[in-house]
Amino acid sequence: MRRFAPGAVSRSDLAQLLWAMQGISGSDTHGPVRTTPSAGRTSPLEVYVVTAEGIALYGPAEHRLQPLGDTDVRAALAEAALDQDCVRNAPLVLAVVGVVARTVDAYGDRAERYVTLEAGHAAQNALLQATALGLGAVPVGSFDDDQVRHSLGLSSQATPLYLVCIGHPAPR
Ligand SMILES: Cc1cc2nc3c(=O)[nH]c(=O)nc-3n(C[C@H](O)[C@H](O)[C@H](O)COP(=O)(O)O)c2cc1C
Repeated sequence: MRRFAPGAVSRSDLAQLLWAMQGISGSDTHGPVRTTPSAGRTSPLEVYVVTAEGIALYGPAEHRLQPLGDTDVRAALAEAALDQDCVRNAPLVLAVVGVVARTVDAYGDRAERYVTLEAGHAAQNALLQATALGLGAVPVGSFDDDQVRHSLGLSSQATPLYLVCIGHPAPR
């Protein structure tokens, strides 16, 4: 779903989407368990929240948003994503970012593969959760990594993997 009606995604829907992507669903003897599987529970993913209000980082442990800036970067992000309108017009973009270094110690050469697979799990949960909430979404993988890093203020250690664009579906 790439055409969005006007109107922001509510705070409670955003909380539910983030929980589905990376939230804490329980715990065991090794610590907290997340809603998406992670190789060796190395948890290399970060989710950045991009809206008209700015950028924030999801903190799974506290189920909190850490505000990172109050500039609307969706136009810059759309340019980074080969000028795709769905990125420009979505009221909410959830950027899935991988920090491969967290997984390298345990898995060496396979770390990059594992982190990419995990991004698929997180994005799929977002798509399913969005649909269950009556929202529409599209996963975007076509973008220039460095431009996305620049738009979101990411370090070179962070690899942008997916931009999940979410909003209320426009009437057909
Ligand atoms: C890895 C990957 C990258 C994608 N990148 C984009 C993209 O950059 N822009 C876009 O509009 N859709 C993108 N999509 C979405 C697909 O084009 C397609 O719309 C989606 O898989 C659902 O299609 P369907 O419901 O018509 O089968 C991507 C999908 C995947 C799996």
